[in-house]
Amino acid sequence: MADYKEILRKNNQEHILKYIDMANDKQREELVKEIENIDFNELSELYKISNRDKNKALESQLIEHVKFVDKYKMDKNDYKKYELTGEEIIKNGEYAVVTMAGGQGTRLGHNGPKGTFLLNVNPKPKYLFEILADNIKSANKKYGVTLNWYIMTSTENDQKTEEFFEKHNYFDYPKEKIKFFRQGNLPLISEEGKLLIDEDFHIKYAADGNGCIYKSMRLDGILDDMKKNNIKWIFIGAVDNALLNMVDPILLGLTVCENNQIGSKSVVKRSPEEPVGVFCKKDGKPGVIEYTELPTEMAHETDEEGELLFGESHIMCNLYSIDALDKISKENLPYHSAHKKAAYIDEDGKVIKPTKPNAYKYEAFIFDGFAYFDNISILRGRRNEDFAPVKNAEGNDSPATAIELYNNYWNV
Ligand code: UD1
Repeated sequence: MADYKEILRKNNQEHILKYIDMANDKQREELVKEIENIDFNELSELYKISNRDKNKALESQLIEHVKFVDKYKMDKNDYKKYELTGEEIIKNGEYAVVTMAGGQGTRLGHNGPKGTFLLNVNPKPKYLFEILADNIKSANKKYGVTLNWYIMTSTENDQKTEEFFEKHNYFDYPKEKIKFFRQGNLPLISEEGKLLIDEDFHIKYAADGNGCIYKSMRLDGILDDMKKNNIKWIFIGAVDNALLNMVDPILLGLTVCENNQIGSKSVVKRSPEEPVGVFCKKDGKPGVIEYTELPTEMAHETDEEGELLFGESHIMCNLYSIDALDKISKENLPYHSAHKKAAYIDEDGKVIKPTKPNAYKYEAFIFDGFAYFDNISILRGRRNEDFAPVKNAEGNDSPATAIELYNNYWNV
């Protein structure tokens, strides 16, 4: 008993003692366990970056453009060469697909894991997970293989996700070829540096960001499973893009032929304000500046032809060699902070639902893994073939826009 009190005192979290008094026996036991498991040193390091001036962080780096290859403007012979190279790897069963489905989908306002959102496409509505399953199934048919499909969930949605797959009979994907794994989470911290407590007397946690995928793949044995299955190249993509092309031999062939270990697909940014990360080089290494961190001035900069200087969008269509994943999984990616609204209970046990941001959330970003390499192959695709994001309930990047793109692409 004394231990946790000491931990709280040492780390300026004594307010939690009041919650411990209020909680019932079971809640108290769990809360104490949570306190004992928190890495308070890490937490205090995270708190330091809460208010970091994101523009300043960029200013200290040399930001340059990154080269890309346009899928539809390349030499015909090169196209053929990339296609053959990529196809051979896929046909050999040396290729696997990973879906990141640990996010919350708050902006969409869907109650449940984002992949369980039903998109009203033609000829019949499909869940986002079903669209992904169908796409991999058609690649399987084309290349005569059954690709391993790994799905990352989070503590907030893992049970619901697995139950959903079970209920829908895995969308007729061979069950033994699907493996779920879970990302971790981190406590939220109030503006005053305090841990928050939720209605059930748990410490308030949130997913630690899609950049934690690398570490989770190592810790959950996914990298070992890939090695055991002789998988050499891995595609990692989002759950919320209805046109995500997870098996593109051109991206794979280009990356192999350019002798790179990582590759990614881009589309031209729709407007300076579009909420997408943009590719660049940071201090000579490939990277992405996230839309939340791109200064307005840079977002609007154009070249002599009027094209956006930072206009190559990161559409979460990323490719890695197994060695690349192995390497990144051993690194500690930096965390980024976001100021968020987080409900909590106050010290009288009353639920507070803030109307403005009151807490910091810390996330690692997947593309920060690119910085461990000198180069990346970037293949510029086309928005109407590659990118139909489902992010908001209405307007841009909503179910309505994704349905239109999907129906047009499939001609349905
Ligand atoms: C993300 C990208 C952005 C890109 C855009 C394209 C990051 C940090 N940002 O932004 O550069 O231009 O997509 O649509 O990658 N996810 C997890 N765990 C988490 C957080 C997210 O698995 O902890 C997954 C989501 O389930 C989803 C994907 O990552 O599949 C994208 O997450 P989201 O938070 O929606 O990203 P955006 O802000 O749209």
